[in-house]
Amino acid sequence: MIENSEEKDIYILGIESSCDETAAAVVKNGREVLSNVIYSQIALHTLYGGVVPEIASRKHIEKINQVVQAALDEAGKTLDDIDAIGVTYGPGLVGALLVGVAEAKAIAYAAKKPLVGVHHIEGHIAANYIEHKELEPPYLCLVVSGGHSHLVVVRDYDKYEIVGRTHDDAAGEAFDKVARAIGLGYPGGPKVDRAAKQGRSDAVAFPRANIADCPYDFSFSGLKSAVLNYLNSCKMKQGLDGNEIYSRKTDNPDFDGNELVDPENSVTVADVAASFQQAVVDVLVSHTVAAAKDFGFKTVAIAGGVASNSALREGMKKACEKNGIELCYPSPVFCTDNAAMIGCAAYYEYISGTRHGLDLNAVPNLKLGER
Ligand code: KG4
Ligand code: ZN
Repeated sequence: MIENSEEKDIYILGIESSCDETAAAVVKNGREVLSNVIYSQIALHTLYGGVVPEIASRKHIEKINQVVQAALDEAGKTLDDIDAIGVTYGPGLVGALLVGVAEAKAIAYAAKKPLVGVHHIEGHIAANYIEHKELEPPYLCLVVSGGHSHLVVVRDYDKYEIVGRTHDDAAGEAFDKVARAIGLGYPGGPKVDRAAKQGRSDAVAFPRANIADCPYDFSFSGLKSAVLNYLNSCKMKQGLDGNEIYSRKTDNPDFDGNELVDPENSVTVADVAASFQQAVVDVLVSHTVAAAKDFGFKTVAIAGGVASNSALREGMKKACEKNGIELCYPSPVFCTDNAAMIGCAAYYEYISGTRHGLDLNAVPNLKLGER
């Protein structure tokens, strides 16, 4: 177990810019968030129906200095108080990552502070430490974001073992693609979550994929195709074609999901959202609980943007209660991309001696556990 052998408090300035959030935070002793500043580019990318990498990088450049300064100010700290700079250096969009990495290196050089590169997923996992002060490895963590669907055994603060992974789409990616198909637009996850609250999760029978010989792995592309095929068959029944329905609602924030997809059977967009979401949740929950039982873990955590999904949280809660498993999940603001989680992960890397040089580069396909 890694422990802080220094007597004094340790303050980390965390920086995150791997996708479409420019974020900085100050974290004390790995678990106490003194500030958590996030500039979200969502509104900008909504115009294009998804993240445009070039625009993301340019916006990061514009915002990063202000966001870092705001994080220091909000925490009531200056760079003199900071012990180390933690930064996401992968995985993610290379141009976006480079902005945070360059910023962190410049600050580390100018202020003569140690630099600690952090794996983005390690950050998502560490978000659980913020509100669960008692949580310590070993435990099992389900990481579900826009780019990842992993079941990870967290052996120690710096030791991870991936025991389950997706064979195709990540869970968040499936949410985003299905949201687009049913006219909810970007970002899909929160919109499906909202619409599903008014839908019937048993309205449409979508498949739950299990992969032979890989009981903890996931596959969401078949489910996504099943939703698309279902929508097409509904359109054909009504003599409609292509984008004639659903898509017109894309950017309407007041859309309530009442639009009929299959008038004959009174199936609405909200019903499709709820049925799709339930299919994702069932698989995530059953595979996670199976892994926890097989590996003998009594504590399970969930992390990443999809971990803020209300049906997933409910489903996990029920299944864990039933199986005598302790469940941890971060507040929604710490599930989606933020820098507080990077500050937490950087703290544990810092006290275990991890230091990166000023030649640190962005690694878009960085593997979990690599240094
Ligand atoms: O962790 P994150 O902010 O960024 C990545 O590292 O990818 O995750 C973003 C993903 C997106 O796919 C988004 O649609 C999904 O998380 N997401 C959700 C919800 N909130 C965000 N998915 C389902 N339900 C939500 N409430
Ligand atoms: Zn993320």
